[in-house]
Amino acid sequence: MLGERSLDTLRSDDVDIRHYNIFQTKANKQLSSNLQNKVVLITGGAKRVGAAISRELHAHGASLMIHYNTSKQAAEALQAELNFNRANSVSIIQGNLLDTDKLSNLISETTKQFGQLDILINNASTYKPTPIGKINEENWQDLIGSNLKAPTFLSQAAAQALKKTHGCIVNITDMHVESPKKGYVVYSVAKAGLVTLTKSLAQELSPEVRVNAVAPGPVLWPENNQEFDEEYRKRVISQTLLKCIGNPTDIAKAVKFLVADAPFITGHILAVDGGRSINL
Ligand SMILES: NC(=O)c1ccc[n+]([C@@H]2O[C@H](COP(=O)([O-])OP(=O)(O)OC[C@H]3O[C@@H](n4cnc5c(N)ncnc54)[C@H](OP(=O)(O)O)[C@@H]3O)[C@@H](O)[C@H]2O)c1
Repeated sequence: MLGERSLDTLRSDDVDIRHYNIFQTKANKQLSSNLQNKVVLITGGAKRVGAAISRELHAHGASLMIHYNTSKQAAEALQAELNFNRANSVSIIQGNLLDTDKLSNLISETTKQFGQLDILINNASTYKPTPIGKINEENWQDLIGSNLKAPTFLSQAAAQALKKTHGCIVNITDMHVESPKKGYVVYSVAKAGLVTLTKSLAQELSPEVRVNAVAPGPVLWPENNQEFDEEYRKRVISQTLLKCIGNPTDIAKAVKFLVADAPFITGHILAVDGGRSINL
């Protein structure tokens, strides 16, 4: 990263030297693994991968607004657990992300509660099969709504607050973009859109706001999905280069890297998939 390079390793044509000092100061200012005084809004942050991200960012000092939809009990339990470690550092907020008109409330409630917003994590998602012949208006609205439309409108609503704090956005996509998941047409389309949204937002919100994505492979089997039987799970694991399933903390650590330790990275999609996406 530029902030870590010594001046004499730069060739004169690498960067205009007059701009280097400005760059270096900015990069060093942002280069801290300590998230103290940072405020995070995470969607779907009460359970599973979302909860792992919440715990990881909180452990590094962040205050959290944890959004949930139906998982009130899990959200309250996580809030109690984290506030026990650090009093008043976590609030929770309910909302169905398909209610586009209400998305800006998530931002205003966060800034009202904590005074600012530094980091938006678009994690919430629905995941269900939609093979050709089974696509209908309802599953289109649900899958596109949660995986693509909500991140778009929420990021738009957050833009001013994030510009003020020179903050960042991380979108949680999926390894199934270049190689769509068979039978999951709408989900794959939505996550592909989220990848493009990540790059578009990186352009739109620069230079103040960085926007990146993490593209997980298998880290936690879906709940209530009969397709994921023992035989299917073994096949998925055998397709990874590392011959194992990952862990939600692998995603959480990648998110933490992008928000805290990557001041010169924007518009990037970080694969965290045990190499499965290049081995299908
Ligand atoms: N698990 C994996 O191995 C894997 C692999 C590839 C990609 N990913 C991606 O990683 C992220 C997290 O994965 P996950 O398996 O932990 O996700 P998940 O359990 O399927 O869903 C996360 C949360 O999304 C929320 N949600 C869904 N629809 C919503 C809506 N309309 N409004 C508000 N919230 C809504 C739910 O909140 P409530 O419970 O509060 O209703 C849910 O707990 C997702 O973006 C997923 O696509 C995961």
